[in-house]
Amino acid sequence: MANRSAAPVALPAIPGQTLEQHLIHRQRTLDQASGELTSLFSQISLAAKIIASQVSKAGLAGILGLTGEVNVQGEEVKKLDLFANTTLIRCVQQGGCVAVMGSEEVEEPIAIPEPYPCGKYVLQFDPLDGSGNIDINASIGTIFSIHRRVTPSGTRGTLEDLLQPGRDIVAAGYVIYGSSNMFVYSMGPADGVHGFTYDPSIGEFFLSHPNIEIPSRGDTYSINEGNTHKWEPGVRRWVDWVKQDDGDRKAYRLRYIGAMVADVHRTLLNGGIFVYPPDRKNPRGKLRLLYEASPLAFVTEAAGGAASTGSERVLDVVPGALHERTSLYIGSKDDVADAVRIVAG
Ligand code: AHG
Ligand code: MN
Ligand code: MN
Repeated sequence: MANRSAAPVALPAIPGQTLEQHLIHRQRTLDQASGELTSLFSQISLAAKIIASQVSKAGLAGILGLTGEVNVQGEEVKKLDLFANTTLIRCVQQGGCVAVMGSEEVEEPIAIPEPYPCGKYVLQFDPLDGSGNIDINASIGTIFSIHRRVTPSGTRGTLEDLLQPGRDIVAAGYVIYGSSNMFVYSMGPADGVHGFTYDPSIGEFFLSHPNIEIPSRGDTYSINEGNTHKWEPGVRRWVDWVKQDDGDRKAYRLRYIGAMVADVHRTLLNGGIFVYPPDRKNPRGKLRLLYEASPLAFVTEAAGGAASTGSERVLDVVPGALHERTSLYIGSKDDVADAVRIVAG
């Protein structure tokens, strides 16, 4: 659908449309659209519904219901991220839209097995982000990005297809499993960022947040401040500064859910900044470039925000390894600029 050489025209997003209707509507207006990207989105949203259904039952682990059925055991709940991983792979690999996949849960590139055909896209994902939150019934999510393959069509995709910078992403998004479930995606700045809320009684995502735009400045910062003693002085300097109340500027509020998908979602809607800096334990940062930082950077930039590693734009980083880590400053443009400037000293 979206194509770098023929940037999609901004279309009116119609509130109340299902995700599928919205994508088909967009696809019709693009000359070169083959429908492959729309299909891939359907496969991802199907996986999201299956994962959401399991996530919502996680609290029932080990409970004997009146039906006499024992719900899934605790051990299986812990493995929800593996379940999410398998679900995504199963839903996508037989669809013929992707040439290869990359996942947080799988060491090597995930090949498309015979006899399934390979398509022109490359999918990377964090199947369940913030999985530590499952036990406390707090928000978690799935993060994904889609690139066009760079290896010749007609062959199986390779690592080379996965190691592409975020600036070449065709579409990216996330699903958040929270007080309600949402699917948020973008095909780039010309297309905007659109959020769909899941109606479990219908089994569909409905457009509830068309054209999400992040405020240029917020009033909230989000960082694991328990790591203060492991930070370099620049990060401490910025955190001290952001908490100062100096007349013109009020001290920022701290919010930290501990699942970046949820912290970034809040930041996208309300403004502010989410940071995971390098520290003594994680000298290159903790978060993964390809399936955590880049997709959320792509969505945030498309909403008018910014994402930096501290020294460069996240989307410009050329990855050297599938599970490469990065530091991350993401959110409102002015807040990211302030943080990067103050951390650098
Ligand atoms: P995952 O559950 O996919 O491993 O990711 C967890 C990540 C991210 O979502 C979150 O922002 C960060 O880890 C939290 O890390 P700390 O507990 O170190 O703050
Ligand atoms: Mn994660
Ligand atoms: Mn994960």
